[in-house]
Amino acid sequence: MPNYATHFPPPPIHGVSLKPPYTVPTPDELVAERGEIRRHVPLARRGAGGQDTRLAGTYGHPTLKEKHPDDNDDKPEVENVRRADVTLDSAKAKWAATKDGFKPEHIQKVLSLFPELVYALNLHVQILQDPCTVLTIRDVVQGIPDWKLLDPEHHAFARRALPVTEEELKNQEWVGKKKKEDGDAKPTANETPDVEPKGTGNGQSKVNGQANGNGRAGTNGASKADGTHEDGSSDDVDEMDDDSTPEERAFADSVLREMKVLASFRNASGKPNGPLQPLGVDSWKQLEMCTEVEDQGTPDNWIPRSQTLHRLTGKHPMNAEADMSALFAAGMITPTKLHYVRNHGAVPCLDWDTHMLSVFADESLLTEAVFDEIPGLRDFKPRKFTMDDLGGKDAVFAAVELPMTIACTGNRRGEVNAIKRSAGYSWGASAVSTSLWRGALVRDILLACGLKLELNYHGRRLYLHFEGADTLSEGKYATSIPLLHVLDPHHDVMLAFGQNGRVLHPDHGFPLRCIIPGFAGGRCIKWVDKMWISDKQSTNYYHIWDNRLIPSRVTDKKTLLARALFHHPDTGINEQVLQSVVCVPAHGERIAVPRDEKAIYTVRGFAYHGAGLAVQRVEISLDGGRTWKGCFRQFVDEPLRHGTKHWAWVFWSCDVQYSELLNGKEIVVRAWDACKNVQPERISWNILGMMNNAWYRVKLAFDGEPLALTAKHPIAPGAKAGGWMAPPDEDKSEGRKSGDEKTFTLDEVAKHASDDDCWIILDENVYDVTSVLSWHPGGARAITAYAGQASVDTTTQYHSIHDKYADSKKDECCIGILSGAGVKAMREDAKRAEADLQKLKKKRDGLAVMPDTFCFAKLKSRKEVSKDTRLYTFSLPATEDGKPGRLGLPVGKHVVVAFHFKDQACTRSYTPIRPVLPEEEDGTFDLLVKTYMPNAVFPPGGTMGNFLDVLQEGQEIDVRGSTGDIEYLGKGKFNIEGKERHYSKINLVAGGSGLTPHWQLIHAILATEGDTTQVSLIDSNKTPDDILMRDELERYARERKGQFSLWHTIGADSKPDGWKYDAKHLDEKMMREHLFPAEDDVAAFMCGPPGLIANAAVPGLKAMGFVEGETMFGF
Ligand code: HEM
Repeated sequence: MPNYATHFPPPPIHGVSLKPPYTVPTPDELVAERGEIRRHVPLARRGAGGQDTRLAGTYGHPTLKEKHPDDNDDKPEVENVRRADVTLDSAKAKWAATKDGFKPEHIQKVLSLFPELVYALNLHVQILQDPCTVLTIRDVVQGIPDWKLLDPEHHAFARRALPVTEEELKNQEWVGKKKKEDGDAKPTANETPDVEPKGTGNGQSKVNGQANGNGRAGTNGASKADGTHEDGSSDDVDEMDDDSTPEERAFADSVLREMKVLASFRNASGKPNGPLQPLGVDSWKQLEMCTEVEDQGTPDNWIPRSQTLHRLTGKHPMNAEADMSALFAAGMITPTKLHYVRNHGAVPCLDWDTHMLSVFADESLLTEAVFDEIPGLRDFKPRKFTMDDLGGKDAVFAAVELPMTIACTGNRRGEVNAIKRSAGYSWGASAVSTSLWRGALVRDILLACGLKLELNYHGRRLYLHFEGADTLSEGKYATSIPLLHVLDPHHDVMLAFGQNGRVLHPDHGFPLRCIIPGFAGGRCIKWVDKMWISDKQSTNYYHIWDNRLIPSRVTDKKTLLARALFHHPDTGINEQVLQSVVCVPAHGERIAVPRDEKAIYTVRGFAYHGAGLAVQRVEISLDGGRTWKGCFRQFVDEPLRHGTKHWAWVFWSCDVQYSELLNGKEIVVRAWDACKNVQPERISWNILGMMNNAWYRVKLAFDGEPLALTAKHPIAPGAKAGGWMAPPDEDKSEGRKSGDEKTFTLDEVAKHASDDDCWIILDENVYDVTSVLSWHPGGARAITAYAGQASVDTTTQYHSIHDKYADSKKDECCIGILSGAGVKAMREDAKRAEADLQKLKKKRDGLAVMPDTFCFAKLKSRKEVSKDTRLYTFSLPATEDGKPGRLGLPVGKHVVVAFHFKDQACTRSYTPIRPVLPEEEDGTFDLLVKTYMPNAVFPPGGTMGNFLDVLQEGQEIDVRGSTGDIEYLGKGKFNIEGKERHYSKINLVAGGSGLTPHWQLIHAILATEGDTTQVSLIDSNKTPDDILMRDELERYARERKGQFSLWHTIGADSKPDGWKYDAKHLDEKMMREHLFPAEDDVAAFMCGPPGLIANAAVPGLKAMGFVEGETMFGF
């Protein structure tokens, strides 16, 4: 199939005419190629004597044909012949005279000189194929239909204009033409040299020479900037007066290279790259394996998420963006774990195997009356599809996979909020990501339901609705888009089941998400379970009240005008906005200026657009927008789809000299699109803070000696303070209320932490927000996650999300202020906790289990130690290079084990009994857990123990650590609550499974050479069978007699024959007999059931002289 562009090159751009050589199609090729081009007379009939009756390649028009004087019995051979035949004597004669001498090179020449003519009148190419080569005004007048004459109705109000100039006719070459010396033979003013990139697919094709930025239009893609081709030959560039500087020439070279890249684009096939991958060793590149402590108390507790994401709406729901530097550094396909997340509520917990997609139509549409109006609906039948139907191995539909960018319409809202708070929380500029989305085309799914494409295009408008399975404060999340948009195969609207080669992540819609390329993220419904055709647009709450661009003058959602505008179809945001952002330099980056100020610094960033429109130009300014430098674009693989669609973002870069940065005050970026629209200079405030795409400005400030600059973005990462745009005064924290308010202590607040009694602390004031929970637009869990807590985060998060209306409702809930001591404790606590965490994370770097995220551990084996106690061995996840994961738990510390309920995680602390010493690390750890079986007194039984007891090998739990305040450092040295202490003798009081931390201590001391610390243990259990690790303990007691002494006590009823220990409750006397007496270098540690500790151990040890916090501690 010949290339279209080759035959019908577009008209010259910026006065650049296209030059030879062209591949000129034969008439047959033309006919074959374009269905609508009908040759009236077959070439064969030009035959004998060259007496064609009419010019080949003209059109027939059945009605006008009769009027034609030359008409004879020739019948059009094809249907749809639309136009009048036009005879052209001279052309006929010329054609006849040269019928055997058809010389393509002549044709090429004519074509090359008159591309406009060819383009405008492509169907007349055969006139120009006249090998006599010189086109006369006769040819033109007679060879080109006079539509004013032929179709006066549609051409009434303008004169006929011939598509050539006199100069063009006269400038043709003919044999013997005298050449003027003064440049007649040169291209005319509007014929600057051509562009002909080499090696760009079909070799001879042309690239339109619109250079980017400062580049010159119409330079030759295969040329170097010095005007020579790569093969050494020179072209017309040589003849141009070019006083470009070397820098300009180098830039032009880059422009040419970029043009070659553009020319090399082939249409993306959309063919998936192999089957979806299971979780494999390299999964960590895409997916986070850990769940977050932040999510532990929320319904999202089961979702692994990246800690590096900046959460913008508190703990729940998850709304987060990647750090811009990380997002950019990760490349053009965003790893799934860095993809921005926009959730309105809890993520529904769905399964691939049970999830169904229901496809139906409003009942009102499935009637005979409607079928008469819209025949395409007649055979439509509601259907349900399983995930296997949609994306399984034997899926019904061919999968399509394409790189597509999705962005939140609120991206860069932080800047809008910095002008005046809008009704939306502050995104930075990273609420955008690109994935390889894989799915079934919605069009195919609808056709499989019997929908026919011959919908009545002129009749009533139909919409396709999508609904997600999530349940939110205002019901379901649904939206609608025009059905015809979906049915257009060029729009690639899909129901995606794959993201970056694996199934979708729960935050991104697992198992099924609608992806509407070029549309805003808010229309790409996640967790889709329903899709239906209607003749009405969606009235869903989120369709009406979200994703709208409301005029600036509307500042209050409640007015009549506001309500009208929120329901207005033209305020709804579908297509994404044109956007560009600077990523390098990053916020806070210190740019050290080298001695050579002419050295190059490369500014970088990304740009994207909606509706598939190309981002055609990106420019930066270093002087506040007075002058602009062109940037070069980098594209994803296969960026082009359907000839014109660009579904993915571009990265861009621009080399600047350090001296330019020093002179400039800021770096500003803007992009242009395929319609030559450019981003606006200023932010246009609107009540939802949507679609801010004003020039992105990064300010540069001098940063001391040696000379450096520091970059400040408008909004700091995570919408924290520190960007150059300061928050408006109204946004600043209100601070503590003053006056006669009632004062509450932290302990008092902490008591109100449930769904039906919920207090929170904001701005050091206390609020009873129980009444807000039932209507809270962010869901009750967003607030209860902070209930009763002394967390400074609550205030920060609250203010980043809410508008004045929320503030007024909040004020109604204020019940007093936090006590001065409470405020101090809260602030200090926040600081200390953060510092401790960072220290611990550093210490545990490289270990499998971290303090602030949960990693998974798989059950390897379970051993029944007694009727209700099991020894569980769990495998830790391997390291990224495949080595066994290490627990690295300090002696005396614990891990937190979790599994997931739908509202929150169930967590318990355990002390693994192995590995204790580094040499015992083998990628696994052992937990000794007692199960409180369901019984008549407490039928549900203990939650965690029973969960573990029925766990199958290979099933998972979540683990984090280390936790606990006591760490044994060896040789009698401890770190207890941050303070180092030393004891030469240690008393241990254990009850039941409280033995495990004691075991760690005993084992660490006794198995370490040179550790002479003496240990005495009293272990209290109900029966001898309940004694954990009895053999190991007794072995140590035998083998290390002088260093370790062991005493058991059991219930009096359980005393077996020959029992040589106690059979009674623990008491002071027993402790005095079997433990070391209280001295400065003797400490006592306890762990066991609360009753045993509070009623027996603590009073007994105190009576012996041990002091709480000095020589007496609880694990
Ligand atoms: C006095 C207590 C509160 C009141 C009266 C309140 C009120 C509101 C209102 C009216 C909205 C709708 C958005 C807007 O128009 O501003 C909202 C949204 C929201 N609120 Fe609150 N809120 C309260 C406390 C909190 C707290 C403590 C948090 C957690 C830090 C929170 C998290 C959220 C979230 C996540 C949204 C949804 C944001 C979105 O998805 O667009 N709220 N709240």
